[in-house]
Amino acid sequence: MRRSVVAGNWKMHGSSAMIEDLVKSLASRVSIDTCDVIVSPPFPYLSLVQQLTAGTGIGLAGQNCSEHTQGAHTGEVAADMLVDLGCEWVILGHSERRQAGETDAQVAAKAAAARSVGLKPILCVGESLAQRQSGEAVAVVTTQLAAVVKDLAAGDVIAYEPVWAIGTGETATPAQAQEMHGEIRAFLAQHQPALAEQTRILYGGSVKAENAAELFAAADIDGGLVGGASLKADDFSAIVGAAP
Ligand code: PGA
Repeated sequence: MRRSVVAGNWKMHGSSAMIEDLVKSLASRVSIDTCDVIVSPPFPYLSLVQQLTAGTGIGLAGQNCSEHTQGAHTGEVAADMLVDLGCEWVILGHSERRQAGETDAQVAAKAAAARSVGLKPILCVGESLAQRQSGEAVAVVTTQLAAVVKDLAAGDVIAYEPVWAIGTGETATPAQAQEMHGEIRAFLAQHQPALAEQTRILYGGSVKAENAAELFAAADIDGGLVGGASLKADDFSAIVGAAP
């Protein structure tokens, strides 16, 4: 039985005051008994969130990291810096970063950098609307996976996030999501048989309190990567509560 994961991707939102309110409220509401709960603040707030989540069991994720180790890389954040700030996880290959030019090879290099310092990558994959409409969804997702599957490690998480469902209010149906999650697990079974059953595969794309339970009930959906709804304590704690 895979333990559920619900991760909140705050993207480029927040302020010290807003984040303090949000985390205090989450800390008193979410239960980590049956589910890994993770929040991913923008880099400047990691230290604040580390302090606020101390002793709560809520985990921390960076939203990205460099493929390089510390050095002359202005504006970049090294994986070991995230560890230093209490992160156990890092989101990699989010579609908003891929749209800004991040390549499959970079995602793979970042994942290697993360694993080398003990960070667990949350590896995002997903097709655009045009790719889905032209019947390429599975091919796109498996190509993205192919770049990272060779070095996949125990503890890595995969997040299937169809680009057309991110921030649009349009959620994949549980059947659509399960279909792709099944494809992803079959791909893992082919290329990393020892990890296929244990690897957690999250769904992301307009997960809300109202649709979380039916998505999470699908056989190969092991939780969610939540954007917009993770910025509201009520909504995010309801989503965590919907995880089996
Ligand atoms: P959304 O974002 O929940 O706002 O659609 C999900 C994500 O981008 O991780």
